[in-house]
Amino acid sequence: MKIHVEVPATTANLGPGFDAIGLALNLWNEAEFTCTNDSNIRVTVSGEGEETLPQNAENAIAQAALQIYDLAEKSCPGLHIQCLNRIPLGSGMGSSSAAMLTGMLGANGLLGNPFTDEEILKLAIETEGHPDNVAPAMLGGLVASILHKERVISMRLPTKANHGPIHTTVVLPDFDFPTQQARAILPKEVKRIDAVYNISRAVLVTEALRTGDLALLGIAMKDSLHQPQRLPLIPGAIAALEAGKKAGAAAVALSGAGPSLIAFSPKEEPAIGAAMQAEFNSAGLDARIFELSTSYEGAEVTIV
Ligand code: HSE
Repeated sequence: MKIHVEVPATTANLGPGFDAIGLALNLWNEAEFTCTNDSNIRVTVSGEGEETLPQNAENAIAQAALQIYDLAEKSCPGLHIQCLNRIPLGSGMGSSSAAMLTGMLGANGLLGNPFTDEEILKLAIETEGHPDNVAPAMLGGLVASILHKERVISMRLPTKANHGPIHTTVVLPDFDFPTQQARAILPKEVKRIDAVYNISRAVLVTEALRTGDLALLGIAMKDSLHQPQRLPLIPGAIAALEAGKKAGAAAVALSGAGPSLIAFSPKEEPAIGAAMQAEFNSAGLDARIFELSTSYEGAEVTIV
């Protein structure tokens, strides 16, 4: 028996929804899990990270899978995980959350599903630490998460009212900006005026995504809790954000903790990505463009 797992990329924060909201994107990692009897953990990777990711038990997907075996109190005879990675690593598009969920869902499938989807989601959030990526990757669509009595509650919000998928253009500069570093530079405390600024806009971002009101999205997708500190550290990012809007994007935000930026528009508009890419190029960085629709589907597990 083989288990096939697909997990989508995600964009967290969406401007003002820092650490609280995230959205699934149509860019999918795939992995096939096969139980073997040779007591080896072998990971083969093609696509993103194929030259750098560990191909043994050190691999993040393998680690997450082994965590499930441990929790289920089962020993893993041997495992081959064949990965096709499309989500770029360290990009702000949720590659670590996708890896975590992939490993957990794959192992859970091989074991005959001892854990429910809800338990896997909870475990992945506790282990990965970022509900705003993990939850939309698991559930699909737009998801808000809160911490309640040391427990994460994640809720899918409606986004499908009267409009089709909103188009996004993610532009990823070739710049190392690890999430840990991007968090360490943020102040531990915030001013009330900044908190109110973000709370009010985050509510309107969710409403804009529900109704497909891109004009409202453009007004609301602003932030005063993390982008002002992070954007200046990514060469060309401030100019790229403005260039995306000038080229026709309704709204542009840092995707997760960066370094990628995400632009929202009613349909694919190549000028948006090109304008943003040009600003990163002017700052001396190569940049890749991903034209992606939002995904209403979350992670999928099939038996092959
Ligand atoms: N919300 C997190 C941050 C990103 O902005 O640091 C999660 O990947």
